Amino acid sequence: MQFELLNVDKIYEVSQENKVYGAKNVNLKISEGDFMALVGPSGSGKTTILNLIAGLILPTHGTLRHGEEDITKLSLEERTKHRLDFMGFIFQDYQLLPILTAAENIEFPLQLKNYPKKEIKERVEWALNQVGLDKLGNRFPKQLSGGQQQRVSIARSIAGKPQIILADEPTANLDSKTAQEIIDLFKKLNQEFKLTFIFSTHDQRLIDQVKTVLYVKDGQISESRIHHV
Ligand SMILES: Nc1ncnc2c1ncn2[C@@H]1O[C@H](COP(=O)(O)OP(=O)(O)OP(=O)(O)O)[C@@H](O)[C@H]1O
Ligand SMILES: [Mg+2]
Repeated sequence: MQFELLNVDKIYEVSQENKVYGAKNVNLKISEGDFMALVGPSGSGKTTILNLIAGLILPTHGTLRHGEEDITKLSLEERTKHRLDFMGFIFQDYQLLPILTAAENIEFPLQLKNYPKKEIKERVEWALNQVGLDKLGNRFPKQLSGGQQQRVSIARSIAGKPQIILADEPTANLDSKTAQEIIDLFKKLNQEFKLTFIFSTHDQRLIDQVKTVLYVKDGQISESRIHHV
């Protein structure tokens, strides 16, 4: 199923006289298996576009579709459920809960989805295995390196078998060797499961290895470039 932004504006009202376009006339189609990056200077609108795709914020004008579903017509509760069902998230600072072990961090969103206990256990094991951390599930985040913490957050993002992963600057806090390992893991998950990825990034290594680069400037997607990899 495709995710689509159609003629989307997002206007932030900082005050009555100060309105900022976070996104301006954005048209974007994301298909199964896409591996794309939003690239642009700080404040250009990358996070805003990711938050719009996620339905975390609603467009001021325009429409957001997932398949036949118009996301802007859903209630807050329905949008939250939709996000849990179809999307996984990865952040620059991992956003793991410090009081939970790696395995428990992965479990947490699965519990919100009310899976049976046995299925939760299987999915956590599967996800830890996919990211190469099958022996470290009992460690707490502070007992793991940055790269390992990011692997836990990737495991958490895939454990619910989403259709799309939204990743905001996922390699920004990693050294270059670890960043490359994480990019290789994204590529593997993209190829093996046709899992769709959309990144926001300043990392040239990641920009060089995605299939599609979307250049963002002043809230607009100004240009897109396809890599033939
Ligand atoms: N909640 C908000 N309220 C008001 N203005 C906002 C809000 N969020 C973002 N903006 C503004 O919208 C514009 C786009 O911001 P956004 O966070 O999407 O940029 P970005 O490309 O992700 O930047 P960075 O690379 O620094 O993360 C900026 O001008 C920003 O100041
Ligand atoms: Mg941002």
